[in-house]
Amino acid sequence: MDALLQIRQPIAAELEQYIALFDQVLVHDEPFMDQPLAHVRSRKGKMMRPILVLLLARELGEIGVSTLRSAVTLELLHTSSLVHDDVVDESNERRGVAAVHEIYSNKIAVLLGDYMLAQTLRQSALTGNLHVVEAVAQLGATLAEGEILQLSHAEGEEISETTYYRIIRRKTAALFEACGTLAALSMGGDAAYLERVRRFGDRVGMCFQIRDDIFDYYDDERVGKPSGNDMREGKLTLPIIYALTHTADADALAMAQRVKQGEATSADIAHLIEFAKQHGGIDYAHRRMEELRAECLDLIADFRHIGVRTALTQYVDFVIGREL
Ligand code: IPE
Ligand code: IPE
Ligand code: MG
Ligand code: MG
Repeated sequence: MDALLQIRQPIAAELEQYIALFDQVLVHDEPFMDQPLAHVRSRKGKMMRPILVLLLARELGEIGVSTLRSAVTLELLHTSSLVHDDVVDESNERRGVAAVHEIYSNKIAVLLGDYMLAQTLRQSALTGNLHVVEAVAQLGATLAEGEILQLSHAEGEEISETTYYRIIRRKTAALFEACGTLAALSMGGDAAYLERVRRFGDRVGMCFQIRDDIFDYYDDERVGKPSGNDMREGKLTLPIIYALTHTADADALAMAQRVKQGEATSADIAHLIEFAKQHGGIDYAHRRMEELRAECLDLIADFRHIGVRTALTQYVDFVIGREL
């Protein structure tokens, strides 16, 4: 069976309810809004974040509307951040089709992202739980900090793994962490459960971005977004950071600085991609993901719902091994 289908099994019915609610929020009765929104509705992505919310909630019992709204909230925030991210990264493809700013314009994409962000907050308010609203508002701030930190870091000379983790924790892992937080809050879970699933989200979210960053070192049409984009955008990611900091190659370091300044040539980038592979950068990134995977499995080891625990294990494995 398809890996994602298997992962969804314990929450298949709830995921259908989630999808209906998500679409309902993104319907508009005037075409000038409904057209761009229809584009977003029609390309759903993998729904990794709502699936995680629902699985982590299911461990605590039957899922209600407050958890469904929490899942909608987080996927809306994710989707709005992608619409903005593609403008910021000047990336023209998303989910296998043209990005919103490619079809419309940067202006429309910025404003549509804002619109979805406002709907995000509205959905969080409709849970009736102020703690959920606060967590979502904080998350919105954290995601923006992550993207800004990434941009400002690209300008400096420093190349370090620590900074890389600071960036990805904010821009990506924070959203997965919030999946745990909202699952626990919306189900009335206790503080210990909240802490455990929050940490699970953080670790799996770190894996998620490390895996995403590895994509950029390979040409693969299945990914549905262009490769080689990160270095063109001035971003150095874990495989090349590892290779650079574990060798003393002055030429490669000079090229990396050109990447950061936005002055790298295609030949520089091709060289650095090979350099990262030859000096164990990809292998190292995989080792880091394996360590995070072990932490994740520890955190769910005594989950009572066996179907949920199995699905969460498969979820982590999917994140690490995924081809899209
Ligand atoms: C893409 O996330 C953004 C990153 C955090 C790397 P996904 O790969 O989950 O995107 P969709 O929602 O499935 O398109
Ligand atoms: C993740 O960063 C996107 C956000 C956290 C908004 P990337 O820029 O690496 O994501 P992709 O590769 O465009 O999906
Ligand atoms: Mg991007
Ligand atoms: Mg990327």
